[in-house]
Amino acid sequence: MKFFIDTANINQIKEANDLGVLDGVTTNPSLMAKEGISGRNNVLDHYVNICNIVNGPVSAEVIATEFNAMIKEGEELAALHKNIVVKIPMIKDGIKAIKYFSSKNIKTNCTLVFSAGQAILAAKAGATMLSPFIGRIDDSSWNGIQLIEQIVHIYENYNFETEVLAASIRTPLHIVQCAEAGAHIATCPLDSILGLLKHPLTDIGLEKFIADYKKVEA
Ligand code: G3P
Repeated sequence: MKFFIDTANINQIKEANDLGVLDGVTTNPSLMAKEGISGRNNVLDHYVNICNIVNGPVSAEVIATEFNAMIKEGEELAALHKNIVVKIPMIKDGIKAIKYFSSKNIKTNCTLVFSAGQAILAAKAGATMLSPFIGRIDDSSWNGIQLIEQIVHIYENYNFETEVLAASIRTPLHIVQCAEAGAHIATCPLDSILGLLKHPLTDIGLEKFIADYKKVEA
């Protein structure tokens, strides 16, 4: 399973990249706003900065919701850097835009996905990646991981090439469950990635190894 980081924060992107296990980055308008990035030129510059840090796909989301405007914006984003993946919302014009970009060999990430039906449509349109929001599904007392399992199963039935990119991940356990469910990619907050490191027996064991080494050494 590939690891993407779900943030527009440059320090966090660098920290995850320095771990050596980062495969890409996803952003969205809320994450950009959280970093105080505003104004079209600043937003575009920020995407290029991210692309210059991480050697992998970087999702940049269109703001437009009408087909022609999405195409114009998506082409502008795609021209920024070879790593850019154009992120398109799961709406009717979005599906048309994904089909258009697919025919132009421009990579897409279909976002705001909450059902298997939406996943089928996006794959039929030729989306490169699909982002089901598992945390937000859990928030509404449904089961985000079950949706990942269902979509992976459907895509395998028909050899769809669209990659399932589990998004809205909230915990290290979500990451493990996504791996069990066969998600191709998990996009995670830095805390959830670092949370995978944690186990008290590792800390206790290491403390004992060092103490025993010192006893003999002394
Ligand atoms: O990748 C989608 C993500 O940014 C949404 O996460 O926590 O706002 O549901 P969240």
